[in-house]
Amino acid sequence: MCGIVGYIGGQAATPILIDGLTQLEYRGYDSAGIAVLGPSGARRVRSVGRVRDLEAALPKRLAGKAGIGHTRWATHGAPSEANAHPQADGAERIFVVHNGIIDNARSLREALQADGVQLTSDTDTEAIAHLVAAAEEDTLEQAVLATVGRLTGTFALAVMDTEHPDRIVVARNGSPLILGVGDHEMFVASDVSAVVRHTSQVVHLDDGECATVTAGGFHLFTAEAETVGRSATTVEMTAAELELGNHEHFMLKEILEQPQSLERMLTGRLDDRFATARLDGLNLDPQAMRRFKRVKILGCGSAYYMGQLGASVIEELARIPADAEPASEFRYRNPIIEPDTLYVAVSQSGETADTAFAVQEVKRKGGTIVGLVNVVGSTIAREVDGGLYLHAGPEVSVASTKANTHMAVGFVLMALALGRVRDLSITDGARIVRALKELPRQIGEIVADGAKIAEAAQLLAQAPSLFFIGRVRGYPTAREGAQKFKEISYRHAEAYQTSELKHGPLALISPELPTVAVIPDDELLDRNIGALHEISARGGDIVAITHDTVEVDTRLKITVPKSEPELDPILLMIPTQLLAYHAALALGENIDKPRNLAKSVTVE
Ligand code: AGP
Repeated sequence: MCGIVGYIGGQAATPILIDGLTQLEYRGYDSAGIAVLGPSGARRVRSVGRVRDLEAALPKRLAGKAGIGHTRWATHGAPSEANAHPQADGAERIFVVHNGIIDNARSLREALQADGVQLTSDTDTEAIAHLVAAAEEDTLEQAVLATVGRLTGTFALAVMDTEHPDRIVVARNGSPLILGVGDHEMFVASDVSAVVRHTSQVVHLDDGECATVTAGGFHLFTAEAETVGRSATTVEMTAAELELGNHEHFMLKEILEQPQSLERMLTGRLDDRFATARLDGLNLDPQAMRRFKRVKILGCGSAYYMGQLGASVIEELARIPADAEPASEFRYRNPIIEPDTLYVAVSQSGETADTAFAVQEVKRKGGTIVGLVNVVGSTIAREVDGGLYLHAGPEVSVASTKANTHMAVGFVLMALALGRVRDLSITDGARIVRALKELPRQIGEIVADGAKIAEAAQLLAQAPSLFFIGRVRGYPTAREGAQKFKEISYRHAEAYQTSELKHGPLALISPELPTVAVIPDDELLDRNIGALHEISARGGDIVAITHDTVEVDTRLKITVPKSEPELDPILLMIPTQLLAYHAALALGENIDKPRNLAKSVTVE
């Protein structure tokens, strides 16, 4: 969703802002803009569309060594130049970029209008610019503090004042914001990827914090104007990881990276001697782990489906009742938080607002919550009581693939650790450890041989609608397969439990509606095959994702290497990633940036 970038230092600000905005494009947006402070004052340029459209609209000379930029995802008002950020006051003295949603924007705008202020946009952000400009405080910092004191809702703000050209003042409440520390230069961004080309030293702001950013450094302070002492930390991400390299799309790059990224994730986390997983970051000793009587996993979208997969593995290996729930629903049903339940938040970005709010709900009611998060230092990662970083590396494609696989593997590690302090035998523990070690190589085999999958994708891309089916262990895989397919191919894809077909969906089976069937070679094989007969008998085409040992009479059969039954759903998921990719490719869709979707959903 919206992205913020800011720069102040000795270099020309414009190219740095444009480059930063380009790096933030993956988050999803509909318009963009920058304001640059130069020797002859401030200049603002905004445009609807892509960052390259903004770049084309820039005047030849846009000199200045300080500036702020923004990619906007419309919330208040349509995507238009007037609604794009930076927003400014009437005199164009104060410029503001903002991520988040101001809940009391309407009353603030009405009050400004009653005072005779002419508003030129439909945005909540414009009110902020006017309020800062009208504040009677002596300093820009005080004016920003007075203004944020009047805001309800979520925000990450960067404010520039032509009367204080030596600084950018920033504030955070509920939307991510970081500072990048350079050599006599400073960066502001909503996401590390916007600054990683320039510096690896970053400072994360917490909610309720503000900062003055000058070329010489930063001063962090609270809403009560008390100084916060915090030094920069080094980020793991490198600029090279954000490059496409020889790949046509980030999605394919990320699918192909999985063997290496998983190898990295597992390094140091498997304990052969005790046949368990070493997860020190969870901050749970064996006694604490034994205390939990339930596990509740919270995540959104694909992260929720991986939570379902995780709950099933935890129940199987640790024999603890476990379930997953969409974090987006959790907070609004006033959930009962139980002291002997282990809550787990799962998120690639660590910034998904719905998941972050669910974490706060658990914490507010005194529950224990740990995180499975990919982005180091992200909001969720910092709010949970402990956790397990996924170490998938940056994921740029909106359609999540490698982070999902890492989530699934993260849950297996967690299940192993929880199981081994309970009744999971050393023999079974060793069986899972061995299987985990094999996973990267097995995934490598699947992604190296994509011809059959591409052929199946061609077939599926012709159909306006399709089913993904699986049962018990295979069902989360089917759900995630359908999710991936619809996200980027725009084909209607629906997941069902195979067992539920005859209770309704079977009515839709016809030669026009193909089915992707996830069929592990496990104890449910005969029943799964029975369901396939029912589909074939009604003229439905089937693409089976299965094991070599399974004999099925289907239009196409995609096989994956066999793992242990608890891990099979992970390997069976990899072809569904490639199916979605090749279908979208065949249909000529915008694979990495599908319509209507954002990589990081930072508003409710
Ligand atoms: C995945 O392909 C989706 N784009 C989406 O469902 C995503 O998984 C969801 O929004 C949660 O994101 P998170 O993992 O960053 O919290």
